[in-house]
Amino acid sequence: MKFMAAQAPPSPLADRLAAGAASEVAQPIAVDPDLGAPAQIAETADIDPRATIGDGSLVWHLAQVREYARVGSGSIIGRGAYIGPGVIVGKNCKVQNYALVYEPALLEDGVFIGPGVVFTNDLFPRAVNVDGSRKTDADWDAVGVTVRTGASIGARAVCIAPITIGRWALVAAGSVVTKDVVDFALVAGTPARRIGWVGRSAAVLRDEGDGIFVCPKTAEVYRESDGSLRLV
Ligand SMILES: CC(C)(COP(=O)(O)OP(=O)(O)OC[C@H]1O[C@@H](n2cnc3c(N)ncnc32)[C@H](O)[C@@H]1OP(=O)(O)O)[C@@H](O)C(=O)NCCC(=O)NCCS
Repeated sequence: MKFMAAQAPPSPLADRLAAGAASEVAQPIAVDPDLGAPAQIAETADIDPRATIGDGSLVWHLAQVREYARVGSGSIIGRGAYIGPGVIVGKNCKVQNYALVYEPALLEDGVFIGPGVVFTNDLFPRAVNVDGSRKTDADWDAVGVTVRTGASIGARAVCIAPITIGRWALVAAGSVVTKDVVDFALVAGTPARRIGWVGRSAAVLRDEGDGIFVCPKTAEVYRESDGSLRLV
């Protein structure tokens, strides 16, 4: 491992953060007290000098973090993972091995991205224009996946942008997510459908009737109304 100094470049995604996505976070993730340590970055990781890696982060072998990407403090970027240009990764996130986080993705704090997950960024992709010329960045508008605080994406799931995965939602392994996922939803399948509710602990919530759900791990109580769930 070698140490790498953090930089502070601009990022177009900062506008999305400033527009309120992160500021609406109802339950902020606690920051570990020992995050003052510098980031640890494996020798074989490829970190663009214009990227920012926060204190206490860990970037494993062969990971690539592209220009203007921002990785928040205390996050882990797994072996072979790809973080695209300008992508924002919040605090205390885990991006597992070989996940492909294409720009312009936005991960809020405490987000889990499982191994082999793919975030797309072009709904109708083509390599070439109709005249046969190869497409450049100017020939298409990239669309992004937003993952809200505490949400988890299971192994090898594919998230087709533009979509938002709600706070503390859980996407089952191997799902193909084609639509927005509401807070606390457990979704599975291709296309992904809601099969239950999960709490902040990721445990499946117990249905107590009358729209009340209880977490078997934490005893937290949630209330369902109009297809959405809130922590009471
Ligand atoms: C979705 C998940 C949380 C469900 O766990 P669970 O509640 O113990 O699941 P169960 O085995 O009781 O299955 C409940 C139902 O969901 C289905 N199901 C479970 N996982 C599924 C998946 N990944 N995709 C589609 N359906 C799934 C089951 O077949 C079952 O359906 P049925 O009621 O028709 O028989 C779990 O299977 C999962 O995918 N977790 C993510 C794992 C992961 O990727 N971890 C990343 C770190 S390696």
